[in-house]
Amino acid sequence: MIDLFNQQNLEDHLPPISEEELSDEEVLKQAYALQEELKDKMLVLGHHYQQDDVIGFADVRGDSLKLAQDAAKIDKPYIVFCGVHFMAETADILTPADKQVILPDLRAGCSMADMANRAEIDKAWAYINGSLSGEKVVPVTYINCAATLKSFVGENGGSICTSSNAEKIIEWALEKGDKLLFFPDQHLGRNTCYKMGIGLDEMITYDPNKFNGGVTPEQIQKAKVILWYGYCSVHQGFTSQQVTSLKKQDPEINVIVHPECSFDVVQAADEAGSTSYIINRVKELPAGSRIAIGTEINLVNRLAQEFPEKKITSLSPYQCLCTTMYRVRPRWLLASFRAIKEDKPINVIKVDELTAKGSRTALETMLSLS
Ligand code: 13P
Ligand code: SF4
Repeated sequence: MIDLFNQQNLEDHLPPISEEELSDEEVLKQAYALQEELKDKMLVLGHHYQQDDVIGFADVRGDSLKLAQDAAKIDKPYIVFCGVHFMAETADILTPADKQVILPDLRAGCSMADMANRAEIDKAWAYINGSLSGEKVVPVTYINCAATLKSFVGENGGSICTSSNAEKIIEWALEKGDKLLFFPDQHLGRNTCYKMGIGLDEMITYDPNKFNGGVTPEQIQKAKVILWYGYCSVHQGFTSQQVTSLKKQDPEINVIVHPECSFDVVQAADEAGSTSYIINRVKELPAGSRIAIGTEINLVNRLAQEFPEKKITSLSPYQCLCTTMYRVRPRWLLASFRAIKEDKPINVIKVDELTAKGSRTALETMLSLS
């Protein structure tokens, strides 16, 4: 993973095409021309949270699940992933070795994915299993994690989920075992399990920063679900007070939030669902509807532009921007396209074969259940 706080690292990753060399307008013009020229050997994937100037290049636009499903089917040698690091890793794991997956800016990470690493998970796993007397724990990871954690669930009979299929995957896991270990996003885990009828008193939160995760063996024995203490810094920015104050001003407003938001926000909102769910609900609601959305701001602004007949706003008055998604810029795309033209790709994401093998098992389980 790239160390975002290492200055040397940042200098290494300054945009390769400066503003003196090309204006923003010229960058877009050249990048579109090059994309057309390279269309037989390159496909561009874009997550919905990408900024408008970047999403315009996406041959396929989607949420995490759709992008993983589509990546698995691509038959072109180069895949340019406008998203974040774990998404590019997933695409690499799902594609044959002769395909190259490119992340235009290597600093496009995910703060939630960085909240769990393999050593911490191994330690938690040993402690949890050591606290039990034979009950089976099934591990499920949110796709927002490093490949080493995807491999962990593959090696231990678990699966991966996205926010679109979390319910199905958790149901599968709890049919297979007695308890669930869910990481790294506590909110997606808690919101989904609660929706499935599991009480808050049946869930505990394991915090890797505390001794023994801050939980006792007795608590582990009693719990049905063990949630990892991770969260998305973008979605955690929404509050239930924002929902209540909007509802007070406008009782008819539809509040739709992403399940990475905290439990009280999801409870206060009218609906919660993945990025695709939010987009579909906006499409379905009749003209004139007033909709407040709790998710990343680039998507909210785009929906507001695409559906002018509906009044769409962000749930938060502050900009809930994913700054790591935002690192992908047209300048970086142009640099990636130029390198592909020369067949000397830059910023290629490669997962080592051993890690990829375990991850693939878990990803295939997820895709077959989706
Ligand atoms: P989805 O694309 O599954 O909605 O997840 C949102 C997200 O935070 C991606 O990083
Ligand atoms: Fe990670 Fe949140 Fe950004 Fe998604 S929106 S990439 S979970 S920080």
